[in-house]
Amino acid sequence: MSVDVRDEREIKQVQGADVWRLRRAAPQDLREIAELAREVLCDAWTLVGFEEHLRAARSDLWWVCGSDGRAAGYLAARYLAGEGEIFSIGVRASLRRQGLASRLLKALETSQEWRGVARIHLEVRESNQAAQAFYARQGFVRVGKRPRYYPDGEMAILMTRDRVDSQTSMRDAESRACGVSAQAVAGAEGTLPIRAQAEVVVNRPEATAQYRLRLRVANWPSVAPGQFVMLTPKAGAARACSDPLLPRPMAIYRVFEGETSSEIEILYRVVGRGTGLLSEVSPGDQVGLVGPLGRGFPAPQAGEHSILVGGGSGIASLYLFARAACERVRQEGAGRVSILLGARTVADLPAQSDFADLGAELILATEDGSVGERGFVTEPLRVLLEGSAASTSGVVLYVCGPTPMMRACANLAAKCERQCFVSLENPMACGFGVCLGCATTLQGGGKALVCKDGPVFAADRIDWENVGG
Ligand SMILES: Cc1cc2nc3c(=O)[nH]c(=O)nc-3n(C[C@H](O)[C@H](O)[C@H](O)COP(=O)(O)OP(=O)(O)OC[C@H]3O[C@@H](n4cnc5c(N)ncnc54)[C@H](O)[C@@H]3O)c2cc1C
Ligand code: FES
Repeated sequence: MSVDVRDEREIKQVQGADVWRLRRAAPQDLREIAELAREVLCDAWTLVGFEEHLRAARSDLWWVCGSDGRAAGYLAARYLAGEGEIFSIGVRASLRRQGLASRLLKALETSQEWRGVARIHLEVRESNQAAQAFYARQGFVRVGKRPRYYPDGEMAILMTRDRVDSQTSMRDAESRACGVSAQAVAGAEGTLPIRAQAEVVVNRPEATAQYRLRLRVANWPSVAPGQFVMLTPKAGAARACSDPLLPRPMAIYRVFEGETSSEIEILYRVVGRGTGLLSEVSPGDQVGLVGPLGRGFPAPQAGEHSILVGGGSGIASLYLFARAACERVRQEGAGRVSILLGARTVADLPAQSDFADLGAELILATEDGSVGERGFVTEPLRVLLEGSAASTSGVVLYVCGPTPMMRACANLAAKCERQCFVSLENPMACGFGVCLGCATTLQGGGKALVCKDGPVFAADRIDWENVGG
Protein backbone atom coordinates (compact mmCIF):
# COMPACT_ATOMS: atom_id res chain seq x y z
CA MET A 1 0.00 0.00 0.00
CA SER A 2 1.36 3.43 -0.78
CA VAL A 3 0.37 6.37 1.36
CA ASP A 4 -0.51 9.66 -0.24
CA VAL A 5 0.45 12.26 2.34
CA ARG A 6 -0.27 15.89 1.65
CA ASP A 7 0.92 18.83 3.58
CA GLU A 8 -2.08 20.76 4.88
CA ARG A 9 -0.72 23.75 3.01
CA GLU A 10 -0.90 21.78 -0.29
CA ILE A 11 -4.11 20.01 0.49
CA LYS A 12 -6.39 22.98 0.48
CA GLN A 13 -7.49 22.40 -3.12
CA VAL A 14 -7.46 18.62 -2.96
CA GLN A 15 -10.84 16.99 -2.70
CA GLY A 16 -10.87 13.31 -1.83
CA ALA A 17 -11.42 11.49 1.38
CA ASP A 18 -8.53 9.01 1.23
CA VAL A 19 -5.68 11.52 1.42
CA TRP A 20 -3.73 11.70 4.69
CA ARG A 21 -3.27 15.21 5.93
CA LEU A 22 -0.07 16.50 7.46
CA ARG A 23 -0.60 19.43 9.74
CA ARG A 24 0.21 21.09 13.04
CA ALA A 25 -1.72 19.57 15.89
CA ALA A 26 -4.42 21.51 17.72
CA PRO A 27 -5.71 20.77 21.25
CA GLN A 28 -8.62 18.68 19.91
CA ASP A 29 -6.14 16.36 18.10
CA LEU A 30 -4.20 15.41 21.20
CA ARG A 31 -6.35 12.52 22.39
CA GLU A 32 -5.84 10.70 19.08
CA ILE A 33 -2.11 11.47 19.04
CA ALA A 34 -1.65 10.28 22.62
CA GLU A 35 -3.49 7.06 21.71
CA LEU A 36 -1.12 6.45 18.80
CA ALA A 37 1.92 7.26 20.96
CA ARG A 38 0.77 4.72 23.54
CA GLU A 39 0.47 2.08 20.81
CA VAL A 40 3.86 2.62 19.20
CA LEU A 41 6.23 3.70 22.01
CA CYS A 42 7.11 1.99 25.25
CA ASP A 43 7.76 5.26 27.14
CA ALA A 44 5.22 7.51 25.45
CA TRP A 45 3.85 10.72 26.89
CA THR A 46 0.33 10.62 28.26
CA LEU A 47 -2.46 12.93 27.09
CA VAL A 48 -1.49 15.29 29.93
CA GLY A 49 2.07 15.28 28.60
CA PHE A 50 0.96 16.24 25.09
CA GLU A 51 -1.30 18.96 26.48
CA GLU A 52 1.57 20.36 28.53
CA HIS A 53 3.82 20.19 25.48
CA LEU A 54 1.39 22.12 23.30
CA ARG A 55 1.02 24.82 25.95
CA ALA A 56 4.77 25.30 26.36
CA ALA A 57 6.44 28.18 24.55
CA ARG A 58 8.22 27.32 21.29
CA SER A 59 7.00 23.77 21.28
CA ASP A 60 5.88 22.10 18.09
CA LEU A 61 3.65 19.12 17.32
CA TRP A 62 2.92 17.84 13.82
CA TRP A 63 0.77 14.90 12.88
CA VAL A 64 -0.49 12.93 9.90
CA CYS A 65 -4.22 12.48 10.10
CA GLY A 66 -6.62 10.29 8.08
CA SER A 67 -9.96 11.46 6.81
CA ASP A 68 -11.54 9.52 9.66
CA GLY A 69 -9.52 11.56 12.16
CA ARG A 70 -7.15 8.71 13.02
CA ALA A 71 -3.48 9.47 13.52
CA ALA A 72 -0.88 7.79 11.31
CA GLY A 73 2.17 9.51 12.77
CA TYR A 74 3.31 12.44 14.86
CA LEU A 75 6.43 14.41 15.74
CA ALA A 76 6.95 16.41 18.95
CA ALA A 77 9.76 18.96 19.08
CA ARG A 78 10.80 22.28 20.53
CA TYR A 79 13.08 25.11 19.43
CA LEU A 80 14.97 27.71 21.41
CA ALA A 81 17.67 30.21 20.55
CA GLY A 82 18.64 28.64 17.23
CA GLU A 83 18.53 25.08 18.57
CA GLY A 84 15.87 22.45 18.03
CA GLU A 85 15.21 19.27 19.94
CA ILE A 86 13.12 16.35 18.75
CA PHE A 87 11.38 14.62 21.63
CA SER A 88 9.68 11.80 19.78
CA ILE A 89 8.47 10.55 16.43
CA GLY A 90 5.86 7.82 16.22
CA VAL A 91 4.38 6.14 13.13
CA ARG A 92 1.60 3.54 13.09
CA ALA A 93 3.18 0.10 12.59
CA SER A 94 1.15 -0.74 9.46
CA LEU A 95 2.21 2.52 7.79
CA ARG A 96 5.96 2.38 8.39
CA ARG A 97 8.50 2.56 5.55
CA GLN A 98 6.20 4.88 3.63
CA GLY A 99 8.16 8.05 4.27
CA LEU A 100 5.82 9.43 6.93
CA ALA A 101 8.56 10.17 9.46
CA SER A 102 10.69 12.04 6.93
CA ARG A 103 7.65 14.03 5.78
CA LEU A 104 6.98 15.02 9.37
CA LEU A 105 10.60 16.06 9.82
CA LYS A 106 10.55 18.07 6.63
CA ALA A 107 7.30 19.81 7.56
CA LEU A 108 8.81 20.82 10.87
CA GLU A 109 12.05 22.14 9.40
CA THR A 110 10.44 24.05 6.55
CA SER A 111 7.94 25.77 8.81
CA GLN A 112 8.28 29.51 9.32
CA GLU A 113 9.10 29.09 13.02
CA TRP A 114 12.04 26.76 12.43
CA ARG A 115 13.82 29.00 9.90
CA GLY A 116 16.22 30.28 12.53
CA VAL A 117 16.99 26.82 13.87
CA ALA A 118 20.55 25.94 12.97
CA ARG A 119 21.04 22.64 14.73
CA ILE A 120 18.72 19.85 15.80
CA HIS A 121 19.39 17.37 18.60
CA LEU A 122 17.75 14.19 19.75
CA GLU A 123 18.28 11.19 21.96
CA VAL A 124 17.54 7.63 20.98
CA ARG A 125 17.75 4.35 22.84
CA GLU A 126 20.93 2.39 22.11
CA SER A 127 18.88 -0.68 21.21
CA ASN A 128 16.70 1.22 18.76
CA GLN A 129 18.82 0.52 15.69
CA ALA A 130 15.93 1.22 13.31
CA ALA A 131 15.52 4.76 14.67
CA GLN A 132 19.27 5.39 14.58
CA ALA A 133 19.41 4.20 10.96
CA PHE A 134 16.47 6.45 10.10
CA TYR A 135 18.10 9.51 11.66
CA ALA A 136 21.43 8.67 10.00
CA ARG A 137 19.64 8.64 6.64
CA GLN A 138 18.27 12.08 7.51
CA GLY A 139 21.82 13.36 8.05
CA PHE A 140 22.03 13.13 11.85
CA VAL A 141 25.39 12.13 13.27
CA ARG A 142 26.16 10.45 16.54
CA VAL A 143 27.88 12.92 18.87
CA GLY A 144 27.81 11.26 22.24
CA LYS A 145 26.20 8.81 24.55
CA ARG A 146 24.71 8.90 28.01
CA PRO A 147 25.10 5.72 30.05
CA ARG A 148 22.07 4.57 32.09
CA TYR A 149 19.99 7.44 30.74
CA TYR A 150 16.58 5.76 30.56
CA PRO A 151 14.63 4.60 33.64
CA ASP A 152 15.34 0.95 32.78
CA GLY A 153 19.10 1.66 32.68
CA GLU A 154 19.53 1.74 28.90
CA MET A 155 22.06 4.11 27.35
CA ALA A 156 20.96 7.06 25.21
CA ILE A 157 22.72 7.87 21.93
CA LEU A 158 22.89 11.62 21.22
CA MET A 159 22.52 12.62 17.58
CA THR A 160 22.78 16.04 15.98
CA ARG A 161 22.28 17.57 12.58
CA ASP A 162 23.31 21.02 11.40
CA ARG A 163 21.18 22.78 8.89
CA VAL A 164 23.25 23.38 5.79
CA ASP A 165 21.74 26.81 5.22
CA SER A 166 22.58 28.25 8.61
CA GLN A 167 26.34 28.53 8.89
CA THR A 168 26.06 31.68 10.97
CA SER A 169 23.63 30.54 13.60
CA MET A 170 23.50 32.16 16.99
CA ARG A 171 24.65 28.88 18.47
CA ASP A 172 27.74 28.71 16.24
CA ALA A 173 28.61 32.28 17.12
CA GLU A 174 28.22 31.53 20.80
CA SER A 175 30.19 28.29 20.60
CA ARG A 176 33.06 30.02 18.83
CA ALA A 177 32.96 32.91 21.27
CA CYS A 178 33.46 30.67 24.30
CA GLY A 179 35.70 28.17 22.56
CA VAL A 180 33.28 25.28 22.98
CA SER A 181 33.07 22.81 20.11
CA ALA A 182 29.70 21.70 18.82
CA GLN A 183 30.62 18.16 19.80
CA ALA A 184 31.29 19.17 23.36
CA VAL A 185 28.12 21.20 23.60
CA ALA A 186 26.00 18.36 22.31
CA GLY A 187 27.02 15.89 24.96
CA ALA A 188 29.75 15.74 27.57
CA GLU A 189 30.98 12.18 27.61
CA GLY A 190 33.00 11.17 30.60
CA THR A 191 30.58 12.30 33.32
CA LEU A 192 28.20 9.57 34.35
CA PRO A 193 24.83 10.99 35.32
CA ILE A 194 22.01 8.52 35.68
CA ARG A 195 18.35 8.82 34.79
CA ALA A 196 16.15 7.21 37.40
CA GLN A 197 12.75 7.09 38.98
CA ALA A 198 13.55 8.13 42.53
CA GLU A 199 11.25 7.11 45.37
CA VAL A 200 10.14 9.86 47.71
CA VAL A 201 11.13 9.03 51.28
CA VAL A 202 10.36 12.38 52.93
CA ASN A 203 8.89 15.62 51.61
CA ARG A 204 8.16 17.93 54.50
CA PRO A 205 7.70 21.67 54.85
CA GLU A 206 10.39 23.26 56.98
CA ALA A 207 9.75 26.98 56.73
CA THR A 208 7.72 29.46 54.75
CA ALA A 209 7.28 27.82 51.33
CA GLN A 210 10.40 25.69 51.85
CA TYR A 211 10.62 21.91 51.78
CA ARG A 212 13.10 19.17 52.54
CA LEU A 213 12.81 16.34 50.03
CA ARG A 214 14.56 13.02 50.49
CA LEU A 215 14.74 10.66 47.49
CA ARG A 216 15.87 7.04 47.36
CA VAL A 217 17.89 6.35 44.20
CA ALA A 218 19.36 3.04 43.07
CA ASN A 219 22.91 3.00 41.66
CA TRP A 220 23.56 6.60 42.64
CA PRO A 221 27.10 7.58 41.53
CA SER A 222 29.51 9.71 43.53
CA VAL A 223 28.81 13.43 43.55
CA ALA A 224 31.00 16.54 43.69
CA PRO A 225 29.91 19.40 45.99
CA GLY A 226 27.98 21.94 43.91
CA GLN A 227 26.55 19.46 41.39
CA PHE A 228 22.81 19.34 40.77
CA VAL A 229 19.99 17.10 39.56
CA MET A 230 17.08 17.73 37.22
CA LEU A 231 13.82 16.66 38.88
CA THR A 232 10.52 15.91 37.21
CA PRO A 233 7.76 15.77 39.82
CA LYS A 234 4.95 13.28 39.32
CA ALA A 235 6.98 11.48 36.65
CA GLY A 236 5.58 8.14 37.78
CA ALA A 237 2.00 9.23 37.29
CA ALA A 238 2.35 11.19 34.08
CA ARG A 239 5.21 9.05 32.63
CA ALA A 240 8.32 10.26 30.83
CA CYS A 241 8.79 13.88 31.82
CA SER A 242 5.35 15.01 30.72
CA ASP A 243 3.96 17.07 33.59
CA PRO A 244 5.50 19.52 33.98
CA LEU A 245 7.15 19.23 30.59
CA LEU A 246 10.52 20.48 31.71
CA PRO A 247 12.43 19.13 34.67
CA ARG A 248 13.65 21.60 37.31
CA PRO A 249 17.27 21.95 38.48
CA MET A 250 17.95 21.46 42.19
CA ALA A 251 21.24 21.39 44.07
CA ILE A 252 22.16 18.14 45.75
CA TYR A 253 22.03 19.22 49.38
CA ARG A 254 23.12 16.05 51.18
CA VAL A 255 23.69 12.38 50.31
CA PHE A 256 23.18 9.38 52.59
CA GLU A 257 24.91 6.42 50.99
CA GLY A 258 23.55 2.90 51.37
CA GLU A 259 24.75 -0.45 50.04
CA THR A 260 22.29 -0.84 47.18
CA SER A 261 20.67 2.57 47.07
CA SER A 262 21.42 6.05 48.33
CA GLU A 263 19.18 8.79 49.60
CA ILE A 264 19.71 12.29 48.37
CA GLU A 265 18.28 15.35 50.05
CA ILE A 266 17.06 18.49 48.31
CA LEU A 267 16.10 21.77 49.99
CA TYR A 268 13.75 23.76 47.85
CA ARG A 269 11.54 26.82 47.89
CA VAL A 270 8.15 26.81 46.16
CA VAL A 271 8.17 29.58 43.57
CA GLY A 272 6.06 28.32 40.66
CA ARG A 273 4.42 25.38 38.95
CA GLY A 274 7.32 22.90 39.02
CA THR A 275 8.22 23.40 42.66
CA GLY A 276 4.49 23.56 43.48
CA LEU A 277 4.05 20.08 42.00
CA LEU A 278 7.16 18.94 43.86
CA SER A 279 5.63 20.08 47.14
CA GLU A 280 2.65 17.77 46.49
CA VAL A 281 4.62 14.51 46.23
CA SER A 282 4.32 12.09 49.16
CA PRO A 283 6.41 9.20 50.49
CA GLY A 284 6.22 6.30 48.03
CA ASP A 285 5.65 8.56 44.98
CA GLN A 286 8.14 8.58 42.12
CA VAL A 287 10.09 11.61 40.95
CA GLY A 288 12.03 11.57 37.67
CA LEU A 289 15.69 12.38 38.27
CA VAL A 290 18.72 12.97 36.04
CA GLY A 291 22.08 13.60 37.64
CA PRO A 292 24.48 14.36 39.09
CA LEU A 293 25.06 17.11 36.52
CA GLY A 294 27.42 20.03 36.02
CA ARG A 295 30.76 21.05 37.43
CA GLY A 296 30.88 21.72 41.15
CA PHE A 297 33.20 23.71 43.37
CA PRO A 298 36.97 23.19 43.14
CA ALA A 299 38.49 21.36 46.11
CA PRO A 300 39.81 23.76 48.77
CA GLN A 301 43.60 24.08 49.03
CA ALA A 302 45.57 22.95 52.09
CA GLY A 303 45.67 25.65 54.81
CA GLU A 304 43.11 27.79 53.01
CA HIS A 305 40.53 30.00 54.75
CA SER A 306 37.34 28.98 52.92
CA ILE A 307 34.55 31.55 53.26
CA LEU A 308 31.17 30.21 52.19
CA VAL A 309 28.36 32.68 51.54
CA GLY A 310 24.85 31.39 50.97
CA GLY A 311 21.68 33.37 50.39
CA GLY A 312 18.06 32.14 50.21
CA SER A 313 17.67 28.81 48.41
CA GLY A 314 21.31 29.08 47.25
CA ILE A 315 22.30 27.82 50.70
CA ALA A 316 21.47 24.29 49.49
CA SER A 317 24.38 24.29 46.99
CA LEU A 318 26.93 24.87 49.76
CA TYR A 319 26.34 22.16 52.36
CA LEU A 320 28.38 19.34 50.74
CA PHE A 321 31.25 21.74 50.12
CA ALA A 322 31.05 23.03 53.71
CA ARG A 323 31.23 19.49 55.06
CA ALA A 324 34.21 18.61 52.83
CA ALA A 325 36.05 21.81 53.80
CA CYS A 326 35.46 21.18 57.56
CA GLU A 327 36.66 17.60 57.15
CA ARG A 328 39.82 18.80 55.40
CA VAL A 329 40.61 21.25 58.20
CA ARG A 330 40.06 18.48 60.79
CA GLN A 331 42.34 16.05 58.96
CA GLU A 332 45.11 18.52 58.22
CA GLY A 333 44.89 20.52 61.43
CA ALA A 334 45.28 23.65 59.31
CA GLY A 335 43.04 26.13 57.56
CA ARG A 336 39.73 27.70 58.55
CA VAL A 337 36.11 27.55 57.41
CA SER A 338 33.65 30.44 57.85
CA ILE A 339 30.03 29.96 56.81
CA LEU A 340 27.86 33.04 56.26
CA LEU A 341 24.16 32.47 55.63
CA GLY A 342 21.72 35.22 54.77
CA ALA A 343 17.96 35.39 54.28
CA ARG A 344 15.08 37.81 54.58
CA THR A 345 13.91 36.33 57.89
CA VAL A 346 14.66 33.42 60.24
CA ALA A 347 11.92 31.28 58.66
CA ASP A 348 13.87 31.34 55.40
CA LEU A 349 16.87 29.68 57.04
CA PRO A 350 15.67 26.13 57.62
CA ALA A 351 19.11 24.57 57.21
CA GLN A 352 20.98 26.63 59.80
CA SER A 353 21.15 23.77 62.33
CA ASP A 354 22.68 21.39 59.72
CA PHE A 355 25.44 23.94 59.13
CA ALA A 356 25.83 24.61 62.86
CA ASP A 357 26.42 20.87 63.41
CA LEU A 358 29.51 21.04 61.18
CA GLY A 359 31.30 22.93 63.93
CA ALA A 360 32.65 25.71 61.73
CA GLU A 361 32.37 29.43 62.40
CA LEU A 362 28.74 30.27 61.47
CA ILE A 363 27.54 33.83 60.89
CA LEU A 364 23.86 34.48 60.21
CA ALA A 365 22.28 37.63 58.84
CA THR A 366 18.62 38.38 58.22
CA GLU A 367 17.15 41.48 56.65
CA ASP A 368 14.61 41.84 59.49
CA GLY A 369 17.10 40.98 62.22
CA SER A 370 15.01 37.98 63.40
CA VAL A 371 18.20 35.97 63.76
CA GLY A 372 21.87 36.93 63.53
CA GLU A 373 22.92 40.35 62.29
CA ARG A 374 20.33 42.68 60.80
CA GLY A 375 20.90 43.43 57.11
CA PHE A 376 22.50 41.80 54.11
CA VAL A 377 24.96 38.95 54.54
CA THR A 378 27.49 40.90 52.49
CA GLU A 379 28.09 43.21 55.48
CA PRO A 380 29.62 40.53 57.79
CA LEU A 381 31.46 39.27 54.70
CA ARG A 382 33.01 42.72 54.20
CA VAL A 383 34.11 42.77 57.84
CA LEU A 384 35.58 39.26 57.57
CA LEU A 385 37.46 40.08 54.37
CA GLU A 386 38.86 43.31 55.77
CA GLY A 387 39.88 41.46 58.94
CA SER A 388 41.80 38.90 56.91
CA ALA A 389 43.43 41.46 54.64
CA ALA A 390 46.83 40.80 56.19
CA SER A 391 46.46 37.03 55.96
CA THR A 392 49.12 35.48 53.76
CA SER A 393 47.38 32.11 53.52
CA GLY A 394 44.76 31.75 50.80
CA VAL A 395 41.34 33.24 51.43
CA VAL A 396 38.77 31.95 48.94
CA LEU A 397 35.04 32.71 48.64
CA TYR A 398 32.45 30.10 47.59
CA VAL A 399 29.08 31.73 46.94
CA CYS A 400 25.55 30.78 45.94
CA GLY A 401 22.42 32.89 46.21
CA PRO A 402 20.42 35.59 44.43
CA THR A 403 22.30 37.30 41.60
CA PRO A 404 22.61 40.72 43.36
CA MET A 405 24.17 38.98 46.37
CA MET A 406 26.62 37.04 44.22
CA ARG A 407 27.51 40.20 42.29
CA ALA A 408 28.18 42.04 45.56
CA CYS A 409 30.36 39.14 46.82
CA ALA A 410 32.29 39.10 43.51
CA ASN A 411 32.91 42.86 43.83
CA LEU A 412 34.09 42.55 47.44
CA ALA A 413 36.40 39.66 46.51
CA ALA A 414 37.85 41.64 43.61
CA LYS A 415 38.38 44.67 45.84
CA CYS A 416 40.23 42.55 48.43
CA GLU A 417 42.06 40.60 45.69
CA ARG A 418 40.64 37.28 46.83
CA GLN A 419 39.55 34.38 44.65
CA CYS A 420 35.81 33.86 44.43
CA PHE A 421 33.72 31.04 42.97
CA VAL A 422 30.01 31.43 42.38
CA SER A 423 27.34 28.84 41.64
CA LEU A 424 24.86 30.34 39.16
CA GLU A 425 21.19 29.39 39.26
CA ASN A 426 20.03 30.44 35.79
CA PRO A 427 16.74 28.82 34.73
CA MET A 428 17.39 25.60 32.81
CA ALA A 429 15.42 23.49 30.38
CA CYS A 430 17.47 20.41 29.53
CA GLY A 431 20.27 20.44 32.12
CA PHE A 432 23.00 18.96 29.98
CA GLY A 433 24.04 21.34 27.27
CA VAL A 434 21.50 20.82 24.50
CA CYS A 435 18.90 23.60 24.61
CA LEU A 436 21.01 26.73 25.33
CA GLY A 437 18.36 27.91 27.75
CA CYS A 438 20.88 28.55 30.53
CA ALA A 439 23.53 30.50 28.58
CA THR A 440 25.28 33.23 30.52
CA THR A 441 27.55 35.97 29.21
CA LEU A 442 31.22 35.95 30.09
CA GLN A 443 33.58 38.87 30.52
CA GLY A 444 34.79 39.78 27.05
CA GLY A 445 31.59 38.70 25.33
CA GLY A 446 31.72 34.91 25.14
CA LYS A 447 28.99 32.62 26.41
CA ALA A 448 28.98 29.63 28.72
CA LEU A 449 26.31 27.10 29.51
CA VAL A 450 25.54 27.11 33.21
CA CYS A 451 24.36 23.48 33.18
CA LYS A 452 27.45 22.04 31.53
CA ASP A 453 30.32 24.53 31.91
CA GLY A 454 29.04 25.36 35.44
CA PRO A 455 27.05 25.92 37.53
CA VAL A 456 30.25 26.92 39.38
CA PHE A 457 32.41 29.60 37.75
CA ALA A 458 35.25 31.81 38.85
CA ALA A 459 33.40 35.05 39.65
CA ASP A 460 35.74 37.17 37.53
CA ARG A 461 34.73 35.22 34.40
CA ILE A 462 31.11 36.37 34.65
CA ASP A 463 29.72 39.48 32.98
CA TRP A 464 27.58 40.51 35.95
CA GLU A 465 25.53 42.97 33.91
CA ASN A 466 24.31 40.16 31.62
CA VAL A 467 24.40 37.13 33.86
CA GLY A 468 21.11 35.75 32.54
CA GLY A 469 22.21 35.41 28.93
C1 LIG B 1 21.97 24.58 39.32
C2 LIG B 1 20.72 25.03 40.04
C3 LIG B 1 20.49 24.60 41.32
C4 LIG B 1 19.34 25.02 41.99
N1 LIG B 1 19.15 24.57 43.24
C5 LIG B 1 18.05 24.94 43.92
C6 LIG B 1 17.82 24.45 45.24
O1 LIG B 1 18.61 23.68 45.79
N2 LIG B 1 16.70 24.86 45.88
C7 LIG B 1 15.78 25.70 45.29
O2 LIG B 1 14.77 26.03 45.91
N3 LIG B 1 15.98 26.18 44.03
C8 LIG B 1 17.08 25.81 43.34
N4 LIG B 1 17.27 26.26 42.06
C9 LIG B 1 16.24 27.14 41.46
C10 LIG B 1 15.07 26.26 40.97
O3 LIG B 1 15.52 25.44 39.92
C11 LIG B 1 13.91 27.14 40.48
O4 LIG B 1 13.38 27.84 41.55
C12 LIG B 1 12.83 26.26 39.88
O5 LIG B 1 13.28 25.72 38.66
C13 LIG B 1 11.58 27.06 39.64
O6 LIG B 1 10.66 26.21 39.00
P1 LIG B 1 9.09 26.48 39.10
O7 LIG B 1 8.43 25.67 38.02
O8 LIG B 1 8.61 26.25 40.47
O9 LIG B 1 8.98 28.00 38.82
P2 LIG B 1 8.59 28.69 37.45
O10 LIG B 1 7.11 28.58 37.28
O11 LIG B 1 9.46 28.17 36.36
O12 LIG B 1 9.00 30.17 37.78
C14 LIG B 1 8.38 30.88 38.89
C15 LIG B 1 9.14 32.17 39.12
O13 LIG B 1 10.47 31.89 39.55
C16 LIG B 1 11.41 32.44 38.64
N5 LIG B 1 12.48 31.45 38.47
C17 LIG B 1 12.39 30.23 37.90
N6 LIG B 1 13.58 29.61 37.92
C18 LIG B 1 14.45 30.48 38.49
C19 LIG B 1 15.83 30.45 38.79
N7 LIG B 1 16.60 29.41 38.49
N8 LIG B 1 16.37 31.54 39.38
C20 LIG B 1 15.63 32.60 39.68
N9 LIG B 1 14.32 32.69 39.44
C21 LIG B 1 13.74 31.66 38.84
C22 LIG B 1 10.66 32.66 37.35
O14 LIG B 1 11.22 33.73 36.60
C23 LIG B 1 9.29 33.01 37.86
O15 LIG B 1 9.21 34.35 38.24
C24 LIG B 1 18.40 25.87 41.36
C25 LIG B 1 18.64 26.31 40.07
C26 LIG B 1 19.78 25.88 39.41
C27 LIG B 1 20.03 26.34 38.00
S1 FES C 1 21.82 23.97 27.66
FE1 FES C 1 19.85 23.27 28.31
S2 FES C 1 19.82 23.92 30.37
FE2 FES C 1 21.80 24.37 29.77
